[in-house]
Order: sequence, then C-alpha cells, then structure tokens
Amino acid sequence: MSDVLVVNGGAPLKGEVTVRGAKNLVSKAMVATVLGESRSRMFDVPRIRDVEIVTGLLELHGVKVTPGEHDGELVFDPSNVERAGVDEINVHAGSSRIPILLCGPLLHRLGHAFIPELGGCNIGGRPIDFHLEALRRFGAVVDKAPEGLHLSAPDGLHGIKYHLDYPSVGATEQILLAAVRAKGVTELSNAAVEPEIIDLICVLQKMGAIIKVHTNRVIEIEGVPRLGGFVHRPIPDRIEAASWASAALATKGDIFVRGARQADMMTYLNVFRSIGGEFEVDDSPSGGGIRFWHPVGDLRAVALETDVHPGFMTDWQQPLVVALSQANGLSVVHETVYENRFGYTEALAQMGANIQVYQDCLGGTPCRFGRMGFRHSAVIAGPAKLHAHDLIIPDLRAGFSHLIAAMAAEGRSRVHGVDLINRGYENFEGKLTALGADIAR
Ligand code: EPZ
Repeated sequence: MSDVLVVNGGAPLKGEVTVRGAKNLVSKAMVATVLGESRSRMFDVPRIRDVEIVTGLLELHGVKVTPGEHDGELVFDPSNVERAGVDEINVHAGSSRIPILLCGPLLHRLGHAFIPELGGCNIGGRPIDFHLEALRRFGAVVDKAPEGLHLSAPDGLHGIKYHLDYPSVGATEQILLAAVRAKGVTELSNAAVEPEIIDLICVLQKMGAIIKVHTNRVIEIEGVPRLGGFVHRPIPDRIEAASWASAALATKGDIFVRGARQADMMTYLNVFRSIGGEFEVDDSPSGGGIRFWHPVGDLRAVALETDVHPGFMTDWQQPLVVALSQANGLSVVHETVYENRFGYTEALAQMGANIQVYQDCLGGTPCRFGRMGFRHSAVIAGPAKLHAHDLIIPDLRAGFSHLIAAMAAEGRSRVHGVDLINRGYENFEGKLTALGADIAR
C-alpha cells in the first residue's frame, strides 16, 4: 500500500475516538515479562508498530507471545528464555529504542545480552551514557562492537547508589529493570517519575519486586532473587489523547476521547483551558473519557515550556503548536527536554503558519540547551490561515502534527511517509475517517 495519504482539509474533526494502553508503558511492561518466571497478561494493548517490534524481540529470546481471550489482550510465557543470535536480533537494528531496556532482564535470565543499534525519532542526540554507566556500576561488562553492544555479568548484578544528572525516563526504567533482581539495595536519585514509570513500578510490584518511591525523585529498590508474572491493565495513552485534543482545537472540532484520564493530563488540560479550549471530563461507570472542543470565539496565545513530569510533556508540544498557529497573538514554546524538536515547524511555515525558532531560552527559566546553538524555542504568531501542501513525515509526534495541519488547511495535501504514524497511533486512519476526515491512500 502506498504510504502517501491524500488529505482534503478544512473540515472540523468531530466524533469519538478511543485510546488504549500507553505505548510508552506497554512496550516497557513487555520487556519486564522477561524478568519473570511465570506467565504475564496485559490488557488494552494497542495494535501499533512498536508493540510488533518488541513482540518480535521477545519471541527471538524464547518468550511465547500469544493473543488472550479479550480484544487487546496479550499473554507472555517467559519460561524458555534463551539466547538469540546476533544476526537475528540485528533484523531489528534501528527500529526502536526499546531494545536497550532488555539489558537488565537478559543479564538476569541469561548472563548475557546483545543490543542492536537503536532507532527511535530523530529529535536530538539521544545518548545512552546514563544507561551504560549505571549498568557498569551494577557489575555489567559492556563491550561496544561494530554490530552492537555485547553485555555480560560474570559476577551477577549488585545494587548501586546512583544519581541521574537529568531525570531521564529511559535511564530510570533501565535502573528499575536491572535493580529489581540485583543483589542488595539500589538507591536512585533524580529519577524520572512520569505516570508511565509509576505504572511500570506497579507492574514490577505485581511481579514481586520491592520498590519505594520517596519524595524528591528518590526511588529505592530492594533486590529479590525471583519474580513471577503479572496481570495488568496499562494506563491510557496520554500522548495520543492530547494529540486528538489538539486536533479538535486546530480544526475547530469536537472530539470525545474515550479512555483519556484526567489525572495523567492535568498539565495539558490547564494549558488547553488557558488557550480557550473547552473540555469536559466524563467519569461515567460505562468507561469515561474527556470531550475536547473548540470554543465559539477565538483562541488565546500562551507561553509554555516542556519539562519532565509533572511539567508539560515534550510529546504534547508538536500537535499543540498547530493549534497555537490558530490562536490570537504571540505564543512562546520553550523545549527543554530535547535539543532538536522543532524541525517539523519548517513544514508548518510552508503551509502559512507564522513560526520562528530561536537558540535562546525564551519565555522561561534558562535550560541546559541555552547558549549551545540549538534552536529550541519557538514563537508562533497567530492566527494564520493554513493552506494545503505536500508534506514528508519526519518522526512520530511531528508526523501527527503534520497530519493535523493538513486537516486544518483548506485544500488537498499529500502527506508522505504516513506509515511512521502507525508506530504510536493505533488505526489512525480509521479514527480520522470516523471523525469525518476526507482522506485516502
Ligand atoms: C521517553 O524517551 C519516551 N520514549 C519519549 O517519547 C519521551 O519524549 C521521553 O521519554 C521524555 O518523556 C519512550 O518511552 C519509548 P529520556 P527516552 O531518556 O526515555 C537525555 C515518543 O514519541 N539523556 O527521558 O529516550 C536525552 O538526550 C517518544 O513516544 C541523556 O543525556 O527519553 C534527552 O535530552 C519520543 N543520556 C533527555 O535526557 C541518557 O543516557 C530525556 O530523554 C539518556 C537520556
């Protein structure tokens, strides 16, 4: 099938979509199954490319992954975890960042791990120095070879005291997955505490881990010799939910996002309301969600900066910027998590959006990217009339923002590379069609 989507934009998106388990929890919980000695079950797993990639990796390592009896349920049987060949694993090279999280679980189960070259969105350098430094401190021997990373743990893994220079989500997960079965206690300070991480801790606790989350980003893990399986319903995908909310604003629409949960989205909801967007939380017992809609009047400009939890998520930024291009006045967005996450605004500018990006830390406190030459602040002047354009999808979240822009613009846009969106948005074409979008491959 062609990966070009033809979008006839200009109509408001109206209707209902459902979000399932969060991509950034589901993929990590799948990795955690390797640590257990019995079967795990997970509900509400979205049908997205990242889940397929992790399934492929688990299967290569002997984990049996089968569909459960409910729609969206997967069952994992890790009783025959085994070493996989470098060539087989390398089929997944460059496809995702999740493989790096297999280090701890494979070292515990097999005493060895091979990690292929990582993929993921091109939104900055995305180093893994924290991961490797922590793993070495746990006792892993890391050998960097041209084909990837070989790790071994001749004396097993032992608990450590570790301070993260920045509260990295991935490095926090790495340390959790290594520490739960390490000998002794691990104390991690300046940890990330995103809801997806707390949900991963819930998964590990169900498996038998002992993890205490203290104040001030300190997490203490008491290693245990053995873990079992888990049965888990993941938190909903708050990035996808916010993407649809921003789509409602940008297209002057009205979208009920079934499954969206207020507690995970408070910071987004505050900004949504400041802009003038309307929302209503439905907590009905039949399975609630949040309705997001465009007000009758104009939208208002805002100043915001992305940050670690409980700040405004960096992954909420791109779809919201499309909505801000329709707001009255000057909006300022300071990106403090990734140094290179505004590349996508060039395409929006070609569509008529009025956006300039700057190297300075605008509108907030100076961040670690200040004076380093990265264009990590954006000023958006609105409202600007968007017109159709040919677009090439650069990465997942930017890609969704391109799609929204094409929906909001008058005329026919051709969006190239849309398959990338399947990495994180389940059945996005079906959902867009249900919302009244005029799209065709
Ligand atoms: C996770 O990436 C998410 N990915 C990202 O979502 C999300 O944007 C990010 O967390 C922040 O919330 C997954 O969960 C699969 P980080 P991760 O480590 O873990 C620096 C999406 O579209 N850093 O918290 O890779 C790094 O360069 C994706 O769903 C180091 O310097 O992010 C960045 O500036 C995109 N050294 C900052 O920390 C390290 O060893 C935050 O990265 C690790 C990270």
